[in-house]
This record gives sequence, C-alpha cells and structure tokens, in this order.
Amino acid sequence: MAIRLLDAGDAGAMLALRESNRDHFRRSEPIRPASWFTLAEQERWLGGVEDVILGAFVDDELAGFARIGQITRGGFQNCYLGYAIGERFGRRGVATALVRAAVDHAFSGLGLHRVQANVRTTNEASKRVLLKTGFRREGLALRYLELDGAWVDHDLFAITAEDRQG
Ligand SMILES: CC(C)(COP(=O)(O)OP(=O)(O)OC[C@H]1O[C@@H](n2cnc3c(N)ncnc32)[C@H](O)[C@@H]1OP(=O)(O)O)[C@@H](O)C(=O)NCCC(=O)NCCS
Repeated sequence: MAIRLLDAGDAGAMLALRESNRDHFRRSEPIRPASWFTLAEQERWLGGVEDVILGAFVDDELAGFARIGQITRGGFQNCYLGYAIGERFGRRGVATALVRAAVDHAFSGLGLHRVQANVRTTNEASKRVLLKTGFRREGLALRYLELDGAWVDHDLFAITAEDRQG
C-alpha cells in the first residue's frame, strides 16, 4: 500500500472511487447533488486550498482517502478528519494506515496541535479505527450532523500532539 497527498490530477481516480461506492459512502456523507459526481467538481475539491487530502493506493488503484479539513489556526491549531475506504478494499487495514498517516501529516506537516474525528454512534468499524490509532473518545453529540438525510448522534474523538509524542 502507498499513501500520498492527492491533487487535482487525481480527480479521475477519485471520481471512480466515489462512483463505485455510492451506497457504501452514503451513510457517512451528506446527500450529494448530482454535480458532485463529475470530474470538474472532484478537480475543484482536490485542487482547492481548504482541504488537505491523502489517498491510499493498493496495486496502484485509489482505495480510499482521508480529508484534513476545517483547519483553524491561532490558539486552536485544530482540524477535523474524515475518511472513507472503497468497499472492496475493506477490512485489510487501509483506513488504519491512512488515519495514522493523516494524523502524522497534521502534526508534522501542518504543525497542528489537535485532530478531531466524529463518528456516527453506530459506525463500529470507524470507531475501532480511531481507537487503534490513538484517538480518545471525548463525548457524545446529539443530532450532530445531517448524514444521508437524517440528523444523527456522533461520538466525538480527538488526539493531540502530546498523545503522539508520548
Ligand atoms: C469504516 C471504514 C473507514 C473502515 O475502513 P477499513 O479499511 O475497513 O478499516 P481497517 O481495516 O483499517 O480496520 C477496521 C477495524 O474495524 C473492525 N471492524 C470492521 N467491521 C466492524 C464492525 N461491524 N464492528 C466492529 N468492528 C468492526 C475490523 O475488525 C478492524 O479492527 P481490527 O483490526 O481490530 O480487527 C470503511 O468501512 C468505510 O470507509 N466505510 C464507509 C465510510 C465511513 O464510514 N467513513 C468513516 C466516517 S467517520
């Protein structure tokens, strides 16, 4: 497996991943307009400056991605982490490796202090990935995000630079 930063040149691979995983990703995303599933929109997202996106490749194929977003500087130095792995690449450690790499990049590459990741309470696999990579569960947020058309409760997880150094 190889993990690297993605850019607009990876839009075709990202579109293919999203297209073939519409159902698999649906429960962890807001309802997407049809325009989201276009090369232009994926190029705009991957080439933009708001999010830092890493991809995991298995046999040279994009298997999943991690998004470091909502980066806040000043006294917070925080970001939010999201990730998704293609269904046929599941349960072989891709998310675990990707989350580890994304956290390393957030701390060492971007100089952030805290990474937060919030998971719908029923997503046991995702919670397992966070616990395996050193995140702590910090609380419960009711009706936190609108995913697949419903406001769903989320477990709140975080890791800080001190946790990684320790
Ligand atoms: C959740 C997701 C990221 C997991 O990716 P993955 O590459 O399969 O994860 P990994 O293989 O690295 O690790 C999965 C862990 O969860 C465990 N797991 C898988 N399904 C599980 C389940 N239903 N209940 C409990 N644990 C489960 C695995 O056994 C493994 O733990 P282990 O190594 O201790 O055995 C992936 O299924 C996915 O992208 N789902 C759709 C999008 C999504 O939910 N994103 C996260 C939003 S917060």
